[in-house]
Amino acid sequence: MSAWTRADGPVLRISELSVRFLVRTSFFSSRPIAAVTDVSLDLAVGETVAVVGESGSGKTTLGRAALRLVEASAGQVIFEGADIAGFRGAELRSFRQRAQAIFQDPFSSLSPYMRVGELVEEPLVIHGPSSRSEREALVLAALEQVKLTPASDFVEKYPHTLSGGQRQRVSIARAMVLRPDYLVADEPVSMIDASSRAEILYLLKDLQAQQELTFLYITHDLASARHFADRIAVMYAGRIVELAPAAQLIEAARHPYAKALLAAVPGPDPANRLRQRPVVGGEPPDAGALPSGCAFHPRCPVAIRGTCETIVPPLIALADGYQVACHLYPADSSEGASDGAADEAGASDGAASMTSSAASRPGSSASG
Ligand SMILES: Nc1ncnc2c1ncn2[C@@H]1O[C@H](COP(=O)(O)OP(=O)(O)OP(=O)(O)O)[C@@H](O)[C@H]1O
Ligand code: SF4
Ligand SMILES: [Mg+2]
Repeated sequence: MSAWTRADGPVLRISELSVRFLVRTSFFSSRPIAAVTDVSLDLAVGETVAVVGESGSGKTTLGRAALRLVEASAGQVIFEGADIAGFRGAELRSFRQRAQAIFQDPFSSLSPYMRVGELVEEPLVIHGPSSRSEREALVLAALEQVKLTPASDFVEKYPHTLSGGQRQRVSIARAMVLRPDYLVADEPVSMIDASSRAEILYLLKDLQAQQELTFLYITHDLASARHFADRIAVMYAGRIVELAPAAQLIEAARHPYAKALLAAVPGPDPANRLRQRPVVGGEPPDAGALPSGCAFHPRCPVAIRGTCETIVPPLIALADGYQVACHLYPADSSEGASDGAADEAGASDGAASMTSSAASRPGSSASG
């Protein structure tokens, strides 16, 4: 790795990143899928950035590209000053050790034939100390760290004897045992019973604070993003459409799509959970045939005819660390010329009735 220091800037810099998949449609033809388009995002040391958006918006692909688990079609992912696409040999091994992932499904990500102790030891066999006793000590410490105690009881167990929450703790122990600097957690609690979700998220937050982890947290759940992230990036059709400090974005989202996602989140009052919520109608677009201009325009209640369907709005910086990609906020204004119009979006009566599976999910899920 390069001789990067904190003074050099963000630990992770995603720069104009695009990811395209080629999907075969018949024996002779295939079509490109625009999973991620022109995403730029910096993560400071110890920062948590949540990535939210509907199903298919490109969150997982972005997270995987940021770990070099899928190849970028354009743009770069710079880790500590070096392009991860160029890592080979020892550099790549070091990156694989220092950048870890936690995936959604603790059922499929753990081999049912391995005991917990072996599962947590496995990454150490590849990247850790050669001495067995040292590895065992690290495994026990990692299990204690994720509150699977007494650790000596858990090392002998098989994953199928554990609850979903305990299994996800094993996945976290596997990721943390290498003491990474950077973690991508892709919907880490969405497949766990509701009673364990907050505990797991608090655990991740604690571990992050202890180890000053830089954390990319992919989620459908805006409420947890608000609680656990420093900033939130809202993705739509593969692009970041809004990026802002978490609390401010929840209080005063600018982009009509971000407003619509927020409008779908039930408030804390239990009576509100049954209330019908206004959500922009229509389905998320097909990543193989995205609408022209702003990809949100067919669903946007405040689209500007003649502009939104033809011109892709660039992500521009507003005041207070906000970035937004919407023609309501022209590049030459600091706060947007049409805030009144923008305020209509998301809560508009003109918005079609709820069709998003995301919006109908119980809890504070923002999308399906
Ligand atoms: N390996 C792949 N091959 C082809 N298309 C893919 C592949 N992975 C993802 N896609 C497509 O890329 C787009 C973005 O998918 P992605 O999984 O990144 O979205 P997501 O926001 O994580 O969705 P979800 O919330 O459902 O997990 C989708 O249209 C998806 O079908
Ligand atoms: S106003 Fe236009 S640019 Fe802004 S979200 Fe709606 S369609 Fe997109
Ligand atoms: Mg995903």
